[in-house]
Amino acid sequence: MPNNCATVRPSDLVQPYFALAGRKRKEKIPNMPGIYRMSADLIAHDIKTLFASGVDKILLFGIARFKDPSGFEAIDAQGAIQHTILQLRSLFGKKITIITDVCLCGFTDHGHCGILKGEKIDTEKTLAVLGAIAISHARAGADFVAPSAMTRGQVKAVRAALDRAGFHETGIWAYAVKYASSFYGPFREALGSAPKFGDRRAYQMNPADTVWAVRSALQDQKDGANVLMVKPAIPYLDVLYQLKQRTKLPVAAYQVSGEYAMLKTAAAVGAFNEKKAVLETLGAVKRAGAGLIVTYYAGQAAEWLA
Ligand code: PBG
Repeated sequence: MPNNCATVRPSDLVQPYFALAGRKRKEKIPNMPGIYRMSADLIAHDIKTLFASGVDKILLFGIARFKDPSGFEAIDAQGAIQHTILQLRSLFGKKITIITDVCLCGFTDHGHCGILKGEKIDTEKTLAVLGAIAISHARAGADFVAPSAMTRGQVKAVRAALDRAGFHETGIWAYAVKYASSFYGPFREALGSAPKFGDRRAYQMNPADTVWAVRSALQDQKDGANVLMVKPAIPYLDVLYQLKQRTKLPVAAYQVSGEYAMLKTAAAVGAFNEKKAVLETLGAVKRAGAGLIVTYYAGQAAEWLA
């Protein structure tokens, strides 16, 4: 009998990390037990355990030291994320796949994902800055950049910027479908990136919609994306499934911070067996069509699978 079951393997999983500047720094994140902001040296140490469990892909976020209206530090070659990429690449060579988040919300003092004109995103300026951030990550050694600002045209602009700078080999891991979701709460505490006014509904997708979401993901494909990601995961399995039917590109899903918090909290009060429940959710995400799953449980799940 052919095995048609959607079995999750460690090589499907991607572990997110939050990079801090400096050395020997490790900070807890509220509502995300077991997940820390860490400096490059401690991230590198943690990755050795990750490798041992069979996970070799990471998604990196940078934590800003200073914030200003333009998010200037995001393009700093000496920034926490750029420094961490360099370190990991020199320590682990091609053994590790490094995906980097390209956005401004963690670097701007207003917490929005782009440069503002009044209270609105200035699309042209934002696209230029996203291109510059992507180049700084590529130069440090990122395998994929993942533009997550949800500025219209971001994939095309980032691809063009990378190509102009000669980084033809750097791929684009597109946040192709990113809903304006409640489930990003703990992440925003990790980055201190909650918007200071308004919300992200002007640039993130409406949870009630699927048609525009799938169409816009396919536009990212035309614009040069190499991976199409849907986020969050569990609340949007229908979207994941629909997208999978309509593309030949690898499809990824992001089990986000709020999904992690929900599982952790319920497990902590004894509502269910954590291992079984988590593996069940990851199996569901794979069954719906994601061959790649970004999850804060990556390392732990891989150990459970062994
Ligand atoms: C940056 C970004 C966010 C997440 C990933 N990239 C936050 C947001 O859009 O507000 C959320 C990830 C998570 O919740 O785990 N824009």
